[in-house]
Amino acid sequence: MPLSLQNQTLLPGRNFIGGEWCGSADDRTLSVADPATDEVFAAVPDSTAADARRAVDVAHAAFPAWRKTPAKQRAQIIKRWNDLIVSHVEDLGRLISREQGKPLAEGKGEVLYAASYVEWFAEEATRADGDVIAAPVPGRRMLALREPVGVIAAITPWNFPAAMIARKIAPALAAGCTVVCKPAEDTPLTSLALVRLAEQAGVPPGVLNIVTASRERAAEVVDVWLDDARVRKITFTGSTPVGKHLARRSADTLKKLSLELGGNAPFIVFDDADLDAAVDGLMVSKFRNGGQTCVCPNRIYVQDKVHDAFVDKLAARVGALVVAPATNPAAQIGPMINARAVDKIERHVKNAVSRGARVVIGGERIRNEQCPGPNYYAPTVLVDVDASMDCSCEETFGPVAPVTRFSTEADVVAAANATPFGLAAYFYSNDVRRIWRLADALESGIVGINEGALAAEAAPFGGVKDSGYGREGSRYGLEEYMHIKYVCQGLLD
Ligand code: SIN
Repeated sequence: MPLSLQNQTLLPGRNFIGGEWCGSADDRTLSVADPATDEVFAAVPDSTAADARRAVDVAHAAFPAWRKTPAKQRAQIIKRWNDLIVSHVEDLGRLISREQGKPLAEGKGEVLYAASYVEWFAEEATRADGDVIAAPVPGRRMLALREPVGVIAAITPWNFPAAMIARKIAPALAAGCTVVCKPAEDTPLTSLALVRLAEQAGVPPGVLNIVTASRERAAEVVDVWLDDARVRKITFTGSTPVGKHLARRSADTLKKLSLELGGNAPFIVFDDADLDAAVDGLMVSKFRNGGQTCVCPNRIYVQDKVHDAFVDKLAARVGALVVAPATNPAAQIGPMINARAVDKIERHVKNAVSRGARVVIGGERIRNEQCPGPNYYAPTVLVDVDASMDCSCEETFGPVAPVTRFSTEADVVAAANATPFGLAAYFYSNDVRRIWRLADALESGIVGINEGALAAEAAPFGGVKDSGYGREGSRYGLEEYMHIKYVCQGLLD
């Protein structure tokens, strides 16, 4: 069934290059499927290297005028974009739910979450000040000026089709950069709708360009951007292997990089914690978006004394989650994005059970009258999980909560840090001295203390180690799109 929106112009079904909506150079298209049913309901261009190159040509040509546009004027355009996103929350929420599968309430929540970054960076645009440096020698004036880096390429994932592109494009435009972007092949429609609204907000032609491409052609498009010295920065959210590939391939043109890569977040519950609050925090952080987030807990460590009570409380809450398509108003967990995602979840659970883990609840695919499609997996709690199991080493990216028992703080800190990843880490404790010991000891870009919902437009989001580098959101997020030029004037006296 095709998707009908209140504002059908949000479904352009085309690339946007140099202010024009256009097909791919060879007119090939990419089908977009509903993960709830695998039914194809829309098509977008399957772009070529020629499309990618044309996007850079126009973005490069548009850069000089956009960087010279006063920050206040850029801010007004970005603020109008925010207002349009907010006023289209219903349509955009439905679009996200249809192509990504998350329940409608979460889809609409994501629209507002995306808008919060756009509004934040509209305001930050006017505050990208430089510094006057106290000169160490007489007769000189020394300045540090902030300048936009130039054309940036944004490559975004499918799990938050609105928020991830918004928090890349908004700071880029605020800084005075021009943009070429490619959304994930599973969820191109929301990004096209956001670009349509940016056009209506008054973003000038060539400043923001988007091309869509299939999995097969994604490399063809991205390679053009990697090789082109006019593209001065790549910002990417996705897997660590792809992030490392981008870093290697962009070395020849020494691009600036922001890489928000995979996670393997620990979630630690100490026996002095408020157990109900810890369960609440885990439900929010683990099951948001069906567990398909980079920051969701992937390894749950619970101290001996509270282990069984915690698992009982958790299993009761997980068993009450409603799994259903986004169209069902009661839905709390939707379908996974595609068959590959469900296969991986199933593989992780089977591997854990074969190595001695026990399924407390869930542990299987769901296909029934309420969930008629192929991509549903039951919210699951596993216990007796150990570090050798696949679910402890790789991101499961699904609604599976694997629990491991621990005895001492030293053991759990060592276990939590024994991963190449370092995006988010969470712990629950009421011991004030332990709180600051742990906050220091955890090797992670983001730490949640007695809190499961961490992301916010005003906070720096990003990882360490194999989870990447660069920050999104906050004032640090704007710096990623600027460089500093040192200007020194002599002969002042
Ligand atoms: C992500 O999963 O990459 C982003 C999650 C968030 O913004 O909270």
